[in-house]
Amino acid sequence: MEWWRNAAIYQVYPRSFADGNGDGIGDLTGLRTRLPHIANLGVDAIWLCPWYPSPWKDGGYDVSDYRDIDPLFGTLAEAEKLIGEAHDLGLRVIIDIVPNHCSDQHPWFRNDLRGRFHFRQSETPPNDWRSRFGGSAWTQLEPGAWYLHLYAAEQPDLNWDNPVVRQEFRDILRFWLDRGVDGFRIDVADGLVKDFTKPDADAPYSDQDSVHEIYRDWRRIADEYDDRVLVGEMWLPDPERFARYLRPDELHTAFNFDFLCCPWDATAFRQVIDATIAAHAPVDAPPTWVLSNHDVTRHVTRYGRENTGFSFADRQHGVPTDRAKGVRRARAAIMLAAALPGGLYVYQGEELGLWEVEDLPDELREDPVWHRSGFTDRGRDGCRVPIPWGDNEKTWLPQPSEWQALSVAAQTGESESMLSHYQRVLQHRKELTGDLTWLELGEDVLAFRRDEFTCVVNFSSRAISLPGTAFLTSTEVEGGQLPPDAAAWIN
Ligand code: GLC
Repeated sequence: MEWWRNAAIYQVYPRSFADGNGDGIGDLTGLRTRLPHIANLGVDAIWLCPWYPSPWKDGGYDVSDYRDIDPLFGTLAEAEKLIGEAHDLGLRVIIDIVPNHCSDQHPWFRNDLRGRFHFRQSETPPNDWRSRFGGSAWTQLEPGAWYLHLYAAEQPDLNWDNPVVRQEFRDILRFWLDRGVDGFRIDVADGLVKDFTKPDADAPYSDQDSVHEIYRDWRRIADEYDDRVLVGEMWLPDPERFARYLRPDELHTAFNFDFLCCPWDATAFRQVIDATIAAHAPVDAPPTWVLSNHDVTRHVTRYGRENTGFSFADRQHGVPTDRAKGVRRARAAIMLAAALPGGLYVYQGEELGLWEVEDLPDELREDPVWHRSGFTDRGRDGCRVPIPWGDNEKTWLPQPSEWQALSVAAQTGESESMLSHYQRVLQHRKELTGDLTWLELGEDVLAFRRDEFTCVVNFSSRAISLPGTAFLTSTEVEGGQLPPDAAAWIN
């Protein structure tokens, strides 16, 4: 069964999800007790951000042991229990795998196995490649011995030309597949292969043709098991290049960041949706629809701003936002994303309508982007604040006091709450079938049919007449008039 073709997948950032032992840090005990919250949302799977032992120099994406669980979170035995309990609730479990780099505390790096990394002897940095977190991509281990890191200096890039590295990751995949995980979210999937012979201007550390061999190899492994999936994280400018990763013998799906970055604008969304569907069709892969994740500004905050798009180059930290407008649009946005054909991702807390926390004290920031950017980019801590359950918890990053009113306890059973809205949307989403056909309902309105179902989203500043009676709306609708920044589902 190709369950991943239209799955709704809930992203858990374990450190900020649910705390079982009261130390302010999310853990597996907390996650296990809260699995019913996720199942009740009506999703098909969870994706867990890294849970491996890590020195936490990049939110767990600096892995020091790929075959264990960070003691902050629990034990391997508990992880196995969690996988079983999730399965019992009908939830599949996708885990993050980080193959581009490991931690500088990984035994390979500590034991100075230089051939498994990219080391160069040189007086000065071997080339001008930049770290994606700011600064040079090269650091000296000792004078004249430079190693490559596309991210933080504590995340040395692995050398995928080395067969030992390839074999190690095959074994890691099997290690977790044997423990019942349903798939992997592949971190920086486009980055594994580097071509040092090409000019820096060609960005020869991303999307090199031979990276596809790795995923063909991984696909063969996944296919030895039933129903397992490979999901790629690639931020690539060209949708056709992106779709190459989704050819039938490579990855199953990947995150659609064009959709995530798209400004709140009917024309822009229509273009992204059309381009996405067009790029995926030739490789017969399902598109996915993503609004937020642990790397970007939460969309309640984005959609309340003057400039509603997202870019890493300027995350507009602190730029004023109209939160009420952001929430209104977020209620409509999930109806748009959930109505489209393909897969859907929901980032923990968006079902509560959480916003980006932009007033964290700087001394609490952990994202390496903050210091590597020379303290100009406040980074990603603001979307990683633990989510509120309603028990006045102490948390490793402080929650805004207003979040108690948005807690899971406060929203449960309240029919107008964001949580109830997400539950209705995700429940009805399961019934949707068919391809997308656009309807023309006027300027700044997005409307499409899928079989008997119609989705209408009003991006304009006036109310519009709905072409039928809605069974689900993002806001109150009177006299068949859909207000601005609202969506309706019609059968
Ligand atoms: C991915 C992750 C991000 C991490 C980076 C380096 O983009 O989503 O959180 O910092 O890779 O591993």
